Amino acid sequence: MPLALLCLAALFALLPASIPQRSFGIDYDHNCFVKDGKPFRYISGSIHYARVPRYYWKDRLLKMKMAGLDAIQTYVPWNYHESEPGLYNFSGDRDVEYFLQLANETGLLVILRAGPYICAEWDMGGLPAWLLEKESIVLRSSDLDYLESVDKWMGVFLPKMKPLLYQNGGPIIMVQVENEYGSYFACDYDYLRYLQKLFRHHLGEDVVLFTTDGAGKSYLRCGALQGLYATVDFAPGHNVTAAFLSQRSSEPTGPLVNSEFYTGWLDHWGHRHSFVPAQLVAKSLGEILARGANVNMYMFIGGTNFAYWNGANMPYTPQPTSYDYDAPLSEAGDLTEKYFALREVIGMYKRLPEGPIPPTTPKFAYGQVQMEKIGTLLEVLDDLSPSGPVKSVYPLTFVQLKQYFGFVLYRTNLKKNLSEETLLISPLNGVHDRAYISVDGIPQGVLERGKSLMINITGKAGANLDLLVENMGRVNYGKYNNDFKGLVSNLTLDQDVLVDWEIYPLDIDRAVGHGLNHSDDELKTPGSTPPSYELPAFYTGTLSIPSGIPDLPQDTYIRFPGWTKGQIWINGFNLGRYWPTRGPQMTLFVPSNILVSSAPNNITVLELEWSPCSIQECVVEFVDKPDINATLQYEGNSEKLYSRDLYLSHL
Ligand SMILES: *[C@@H]1O[C@H](CO)[C@@H](O)[C@H](O)[C@H]1NC(C)=O
Ligand SMILES: *[C@@H]1O[C@H](CO)[C@@H](O)[C@H](O)[C@H]1NC(C)=O
Ligand SMILES: *[C@@H]1O[C@H](CO)[C@@H](O)[C@H](O)[C@H]1NC(C)=O
Ligand SMILES: *[C@@H]1O[C@H](CO)[C@@H](O)[C@H](O)[C@H]1NC(C)=O
Ligand SMILES: *[C@@H]1O[C@H](CO)[C@@H](O)[C@H](O)[C@H]1NC(C)=O
Ligand SMILES: *[C@@H]1O[C@H](CO)[C@@H](O)[C@H](O)[C@H]1NC(C)=O
Ligand SMILES: *[C@@H]1O[C@H](CO)[C@@H](O)[C@H](O)[C@H]1NC(C)=O
Ligand SMILES: *[C@@H]1O[C@H](CO)[C@@H](O)[C@H](O)[C@H]1NC(C)=O
Ligand SMILES: *[C@@H]1O[C@H](CO)[C@@H](O)[C@H](O)[C@H]1NC(C)=O
Repeated sequence: MPLALLCLAALFALLPASIPQRSFGIDYDHNCFVKDGKPFRYISGSIHYARVPRYYWKDRLLKMKMAGLDAIQTYVPWNYHESEPGLYNFSGDRDVEYFLQLANETGLLVILRAGPYICAEWDMGGLPAWLLEKESIVLRSSDLDYLESVDKWMGVFLPKMKPLLYQNGGPIIMVQVENEYGSYFACDYDYLRYLQKLFRHHLGEDVVLFTTDGAGKSYLRCGALQGLYATVDFAPGHNVTAAFLSQRSSEPTGPLVNSEFYTGWLDHWGHRHSFVPAQLVAKSLGEILARGANVNMYMFIGGTNFAYWNGANMPYTPQPTSYDYDAPLSEAGDLTEKYFALREVIGMYKRLPEGPIPPTTPKFAYGQVQMEKIGTLLEVLDDLSPSGPVKSVYPLTFVQLKQYFGFVLYRTNLKKNLSEETLLISPLNGVHDRAYISVDGIPQGVLERGKSLMINITGKAGANLDLLVENMGRVNYGKYNNDFKGLVSNLTLDQDVLVDWEIYPLDIDRAVGHGLNHSDDELKTPGSTPPSYELPAFYTGTLSIPSGIPDLPQDTYIRFPGWTKGQIWINGFNLGRYWPTRGPQMTLFVPSNILVSSAPNNITVLELEWSPCSIQECVVEFVDKPDINATLQYEGNSEKLYSRDLYLSHL
């Protein structure tokens, strides 16, 4: 596109004296951005501060700077900052202002994707689950209750960003409104106009506001709005000319921008690990830069879905704990072949910064840690649910209980003797998302959303029927965003609707943080032939960092030999979910900043299905290499879905 090249060649020798020292805008005549009165093209990379420990922000930003990037792009997950209506957290790992200041100090500009919706393979696309307290809410639309919440949140968040805008002395050059709105069914222009007005109100008239949509006229139809600069996203291998022509359908002039150029791709539990060859990405990046276009590489570092933050796609498939993304910097911030390949391409278009690239951080194999059973979840129920159960004839959802993440225990009683195998059914696929079922402490099996909707159980009249229900992550994309958790519809047993529930909200994170106490109850000795399921149970162990070795603690990875599925905490920090029997992720990244060398480190594991402890070694193991690419038997499509269009067509 000759017009774009003109941008780079344009001479702005006769600058009017009135151009302020710090300014950023769009030059529609020369098809480029203009920064401080000069034509400007950015090469940017995505990093999500919520997926990297604060301790490592500086290291990752410096690595990005040394790759030749001008800017970083980051998403702001609303639900990470406003966990309950009006309860805000901007401290520690959630201190977004500090993160942006670090970017500024590192000499990186910032492209801020402020939401309210972000997708991002993040729980509910960044929208707080408490929005669903109004059950009929139409998210991402002019729904009045939705707008009221957006208005309050943005009234807190955007004023924090104002001093960080480029023209106010900060790093933020552009702010994205919504995200890929053209892929959403609502197509509500009033909503986009409302956001535009809201952003302008808080940020002023000077800042460049923009939108991002798939590179196709059909996406831009509902995603673009007059006054918001329309950009597109597309993957390596895509026809670059055709992609930018689609941007031109909305923006006949102005800079060409790919806001999400995919360096890799996301993973799902039970699907093979995504892999996009470095050479393919490098070649496409070269084509984009050769046109004078602006680009943001998504992701430049993916990082980790710690705790419960992963999202899911439909048909319901949650994303794993690792968000490595096959990005140029690995989940742990390691320099990869792709990093150097992309840096080389960037070096053909601009001068790379001088100085050393921060090296890959060393990883340490601390070895095996002996684990010991604390007790079953039922045995420590009082610790986990101090306020006790909520009684309800029909099951309540997580949102109705005002518990948004983790696990809830649903209990009812058998009304009759079930000496024969009797079907427990979730007729409307209403177990969101996985239930671990027992009768009077005898494990029966698992129900799973979209996969396993009935099991047989047995038990005596009056026995407790317990379902521990796990929220495995809310849908982050598309019309299934209103993703209620828990038992969201009635279950039947022998064709009778189950009623009269005692529902225990569980604050497992708090209990683990305070130190779970060994239960006094007698532990059941396992039989000689183990059943296929055990009761969900807690295990604990300690990792002591060896002395006499300099520079410990270092980063590490944890493996789960013989374990099945669960959640793990180290020193109370919720590292995330493990599920080696489904894969492809086998190890979890353990950043050094959660470890201490002055005292033993407390490891707590909640194993939901089956631990190795009764039949073999009861250990977890710290290793120095990640394994997120296990070759298991995978269901469904065996193709590597690195094409966005191919991917979307599978949803
Ligand atoms: C705020 O978030 C930080 C980082 O995740 C956390 O350490 C802190 O406990 C949170 N504060 C509150 C009051 O929840
Ligand atoms: C950002 O960095 C510039 C120097 O590059 C400095 O003048 C400015 O004060 C910094 N802004 C903030 C908000 O830290
Ligand atoms: C790429 O798209 C352009 C514009 O639609 C078209 O003219 C060109 O033939 C395409 N190139 C290839 C290799 O398909
Ligand atoms: C269930 O069976 C037990 C004997 O195993 C019997 O005593 C009891 O009456 C039965 N209860 C019902 C509700 O049928
Ligand atoms: C339940 O048990 C019956 C009788 O043993 C059997 O035919 C059926 O396949 C079982 N169903 C399930 C879902 O296990
Ligand atoms: C369960 O069934 C009852 C009676 O039909 C109904 O009122 C209730 O809404 C249902 N509950 C759920 C969670 O679907
Ligand atoms: C475990 O016991 C200690 C000391 O009795 C108590 O302070 C703590 O709260 C208990 N932990 C939990 C999770 O209840
Ligand atoms: C580990 O747990 C013990 C007992 O609850 C506690 O005293 C200690 O401070 C914990 N260690 C760390 C490193 O948090
Ligand atoms: C993943 O494993 C497969 C099979 O071992 C291998 O061919 C592939 O190169 C691996 N991919 C990555 C990204 O390591």
